[in-house]
Amino acid sequence: MADAVAEGARAVQGIGVELNYYVAPEALGNYDAILIGIPTYHHDMTVDMKSMFEEAAVKDVNLKGKTGAAFGSYGWSGEAPRMVIEIMKNKF
Ligand SMILES: Cc1cc2nc3c(=O)[nH]c(=O)nc-3n(C[C@H](O)[C@H](O)[C@H](O)COP(=O)(O)O)c2cc1C
Repeated sequence: MADAVAEGARAVQGIGVELNYYVAPEALGNYDAILIGIPTYHHDMTVDMKSMFEEAAVKDVNLKGKTGAAFGSYGWSGEAPRMVIEIMKNKF
């Protein structure tokens, strides 16, 4: 899914895309747009993503003015991408 999203973004002229499995919270500030892919498990986002946001909050990472988006695989309810969007929008 991430490959498909990256391919779509790369098709836009002037857009540089970096696809990472993991990004250090303090490095998030280096990007103009952040797209997060995340599956839903037990009606929740994954622990590694929660930890990443927790660390970003502790380190006071400021993402104001950046574009944010989320996508993800799921079986039936698919809450995780919405949770990620909500956190990016309200906290960061
Ligand atoms: C233990 C377990 C719990 C799951 N809980 C949910 C859930 O609450 N809601 C949902 O939509 N999908 C749920 N799923 C389906 C997963 O989201 C789906 O298998 C996953 O997105 C596949 O992506 P992945 O292989 O990258 O983890 C669950 C799957 C497993 C194995």
